Amino acid sequence: MGILIDEKNKIFTLHTKNSTYQMKADEYGFLLHLYYGRRTEGCMDYLLHFADRGFSGNPYDAGADRTYSMDVLPQELPCQGTGDYRSPAVIIKNADGSYGCDFRYRSARILEGKYGIPGFPAVYADKKEAETLEIELEDPVSHVKATLLYGVLPELDIITRSARIHNGGSDKISLEKAQAACLDWVGGDFDIMFFYGRHAMERYVQRTPVSHGAQTIGSRRGTSSHQYNPMMMIADRNATEDFGSCYAMTFVYSGNFKGEVEKDQFNQTRALMGLADELFSYPLQPEEDFYVPETILSYSRAGLAKLSQNLHSCIRAHLCRGKYRDSIRPVLLNSWEASYFDFDSESLCALARQAADLGIEMLVMDDGWFGKRDDDNSGLGDWHVNEEKLGESLSSLIEKINGMGLKFGIWFEPEAVNEDSDLYREHPDWALSIPGRNPVRARNQLLLDFSRPEVVDWIFENLCQVLDQGNIEYIKWDLNRSLSDCYSCGADDQGRVQYDYVRGLYDLLERLVQKYPDILFEGCSGGGGRFDAGMLYYTPQIWCSDNTDAVDRVDIQYGTSFGYPVSTVGSHVSAVPNHQTGRTTPFAARGITAMAGTFGYELDPNKLTDDEKQQMRQQIADYKKYAPLIQNGLYYRLTDPSTQEVGAWEFVSEDASAVLVSALMLKVHGNMTVNYLRLKGLEEGCMYREEKSGKVYAADALMESGIPLPVEFGEYQAYQMYFVKEG
Ligand code: GLA
Repeated sequence: MGILIDEKNKIFTLHTKNSTYQMKADEYGFLLHLYYGRRTEGCMDYLLHFADRGFSGNPYDAGADRTYSMDVLPQELPCQGTGDYRSPAVIIKNADGSYGCDFRYRSARILEGKYGIPGFPAVYADKKEAETLEIELEDPVSHVKATLLYGVLPELDIITRSARIHNGGSDKISLEKAQAACLDWVGGDFDIMFFYGRHAMERYVQRTPVSHGAQTIGSRRGTSSHQYNPMMMIADRNATEDFGSCYAMTFVYSGNFKGEVEKDQFNQTRALMGLADELFSYPLQPEEDFYVPETILSYSRAGLAKLSQNLHSCIRAHLCRGKYRDSIRPVLLNSWEASYFDFDSESLCALARQAADLGIEMLVMDDGWFGKRDDDNSGLGDWHVNEEKLGESLSSLIEKINGMGLKFGIWFEPEAVNEDSDLYREHPDWALSIPGRNPVRARNQLLLDFSRPEVVDWIFENLCQVLDQGNIEYIKWDLNRSLSDCYSCGADDQGRVQYDYVRGLYDLLERLVQKYPDILFEGCSGGGGRFDAGMLYYTPQIWCSDNTDAVDRVDIQYGTSFGYPVSTVGSHVSAVPNHQTGRTTPFAARGITAMAGTFGYELDPNKLTDDEKQQMRQQIADYKKYAPLIQNGLYYRLTDPSTQEVGAWEFVSEDASAVLVSALMLKVHGNMTVNYLRLKGLEEGCMYREEKSGKVYAADALMESGIPLPVEFGEYQAYQMYFVKEG
């Protein structure tokens, strides 16, 4: 299928439909990287250049050959200790305290299907869709083994990388850095794209030239974070949305990470993506294994739109799982911005009644239903229903909501605990804190030590006991602070705690998704603070941001779209003036923006005017009609909202027969110039009819000159145009 092993020359080639990746185990047994780029045949070891380079040392077994240096050669798994002074993917501290590590090739084999990673999220695919290449390397002195895992999904232009580190020696070692994905280019002139932000303003795009001096992103927060997303793109300097070579590196992990890119002394570029080395030091006893979480790689020579689409297809169908992976998600009403902590069964039923009348399909009871929880100062950890506050039992409330024709969903923040809670009073040692020091509080809460299995077990039992009370069909899984004070009394080394915490989180999620396969999980961390490919393995959608302002959301969703499919983006229409920005935007603007996501509402429908209610009915009907196209269609960014007057995006069905264009005017001026939106992905030579106007357009003209947006009076005009191919 996609993997070739040339046994004689020890050349390993991975082919996808449009890309080729190649490496070689050379005469010394070093695994060198040869090539990653457009699909090609042949052997690319001619790209390696050997020259005597001052202050770049030589492996001992190269003898008198001063032209052979790991400091210069492109590699698959560069480690600290071989004379490569660039940033390594792996650092191992040996029992004697030294950092020597020297992985040499031992064997390679091809396996059917895609490898999995025990206890961790990973891309999955069946035997017809994927193959795995395993390359085993070993340090001849310490007998530590690194098994490199390459998953190849040819049709999707996706290659994944992970590694298993095995301590085959007789002494304990410590892993000080572990990143499975390294890309070394021997030449090239690249830009690096990072996705940065903050709470309520996540995933802005930053594109800058790769230069001398490392450019690094990452998280020390224990979660993937609002501040940097664990995803980066490396693009040719002249690559655009539609042209040019570009690469993606997406980390499938929800904790601390590090992404690095740097031009070296010879203008060669190295990019690394994986676990952060800071706050990490993982002990490995003899015969123990360590799994390096996976990174997804993709290459496109047709620009960033295609690169994003590759990631979208992979995440949508090969990482997201469960009943809701392919089905259209219910239109939901979330109680948070409608009533915050101030609700009871009666007020929830009033929301639900109106919601049902307007066509909404599910009511989600957000924070405030458990323990003593009337504000955010108490109650977290006490996952038992506050029937006194609700005014009835959970099961009877759910029955009432179901009786109105609505599904019922519920909010949890399972990793958190308030000091003012029965759980904390009973088990203060379950909260992360360092003996003798006061912990850092955030939102007046602490976090539970999820690196300890007994804590995870207890939370699992408590969540199940709530979930078993009635027909709960949705969970919003929140986390409202970053980790700190990561000391665990159960750990033999504190450098393992944050990795083990994430493993505990994944264990809990896995048990729940297995036990409750019919529940739709939505991830959340103060909005998009843990919007990553790891979480999407358990929760096929994630609340994209706490910011529901339509104009800001255009920016947030624009950045998010580079790495993640629309089917994963939780997006709702909320009330105006917006609760985060105070801005007032038209109902239609909020509607089309939320339709670039899983769609729902975050407001009290009883407070809407009759006109708004009418618009809402229509919006829901429109969404239901377009939902298959929105959820599964090819996504194109038509503008860059950070620099243009209009934010616009487009969904095109796989066969190009249906096209939905959405646009939001972000700026209004006197005597406006006309904005022409150039459509993408239509079938050349065909005619398309726009449904509302009935007008017929030539695809080539729509893609070449575009369609003019009407100039209208007033701020934030929204446009939605649906084109159907004629004939
Ligand atoms: C976070 C979420 C919100 C809401 C609150 C509840 O901030 O992002 O949507 O659920 O918590 O406390």
